[in-house]
Amino acid sequence: MKLFDVYPLYPIELVKAKGSTVWDKNGQEYIDLYGGHAVISIGHSHPTYVARMSEQLTNIGFYSNSIIISGQEALAEKLGRLSGYSNYTLFLTNSGAESNENALKLASFYTGRKKVVSFTKAFHGRTAGSVAVTDNPSIVAPINSTEHVTFLHFNQIDGLEKITEEHAAVIVEGIQGVGGIQVASDAFLQALRKRCDETGAQLILDSVQCGYGRSGKFFSHQFAGIHPDMMTTAKGMGNGFPMGGVLIAPHIQASYGLLGTTFGGNHLACLAGNVVLDVIEEENLVQNAEKIGNYITKSLEGFQNVTEVRGRGLMIGIELDQPVGPVRDALLFNEHIFCGYAGKNTLRLLPSLGIDQKIADRFLESLASVLKA
Ligand SMILES: Cc1ncc(COP(=O)(O)O)c(C=O)c1O
Repeated sequence: MKLFDVYPLYPIELVKAKGSTVWDKNGQEYIDLYGGHAVISIGHSHPTYVARMSEQLTNIGFYSNSIIISGQEALAEKLGRLSGYSNYTLFLTNSGAESNENALKLASFYTGRKKVVSFTKAFHGRTAGSVAVTDNPSIVAPINSTEHVTFLHFNQIDGLEKITEEHAAVIVEGIQGVGGIQVASDAFLQALRKRCDETGAQLILDSVQCGYGRSGKFFSHQFAGIHPDMMTTAKGMGNGFPMGGVLIAPHIQASYGLLGTTFGGNHLACLAGNVVLDVIEEENLVQNAEKIGNYITKSLEGFQNVTEVRGRGLMIGIELDQPVGPVRDALLFNEHIFCGYAGKNTLRLLPSLGIDQKIADRFLESLASVLKA
């Protein structure tokens, strides 16, 4: 059997990783500023992660949600405390799309409504509901195309009056990732909160990419001082172990059977989630994301061929005056640095929250030399 060929691949096979360094099968070393697409939050093969995951696997790796899994409560308590949302409840899933899917369902159950507002350039995942609120017709199958979704202009307050009492939910990324590292302005998020309060639509902050400390606050919307009705997470939550979650405001009540999952919240996933939060706290990674992120952003000011730097903390979009493809390839193949991209001209950095200034400097020197070439 062959693989269903949906991914264009780089001819690189990674066999080892530590912190923000990865090695391919020929022993070539690379710096990883992409984190496997914002997934590696505390660093590859962090020693605490390896030790505690191995121990957990030796004890018990999986059982379903029909028994007590104390790691779930520990995770909810820790996440509530570190994010400042102790009064919210947590539903555990396996991915970002699934988190958004469940948040949309909860908004619809709660309001009894069907319609949803999303925004231009939004990306929320590929499952039925998540892809329907994603602004990319080429990945929406006919079965997922629906009249229920309206796309309004991201970051534009004019037009938010189109959110009405017919809407179950408004879903928005605090910082658009796939859309090119576009930061939702504080005023926009505050206006959204206000309009949702006026209409009863539930405000969902998709924090799958911009959450978990990456922005320099636990959630990027916290710069705007708003409280969403739900937040969705995944990616860095398990540092590579697939897991996601929905943080749910207290007015939305649970009942048996309302939501469910076979794998969500299993023993290994919870252990991964708990270690990530322990390390984020012990190593002050949210503060580090802010510090190193600001350092990189400031250092890029006045850089040749860079027209704009967007983002917050360690979610950085570098807008170039030239196509990003060749720059990204030169960084990878000549400088041995993994970066991401968005659109045609944006280089995207989504590194581990633990990177230090030495790594940042190495990237800045490499980018300067690639752009000069
Ligand atoms: C903002 C956002 N939401 C949702 C998703 C979907 O997450 P997953 O691929 O884990 O389903 C992504 C993935 O890139 C994302 O960036």
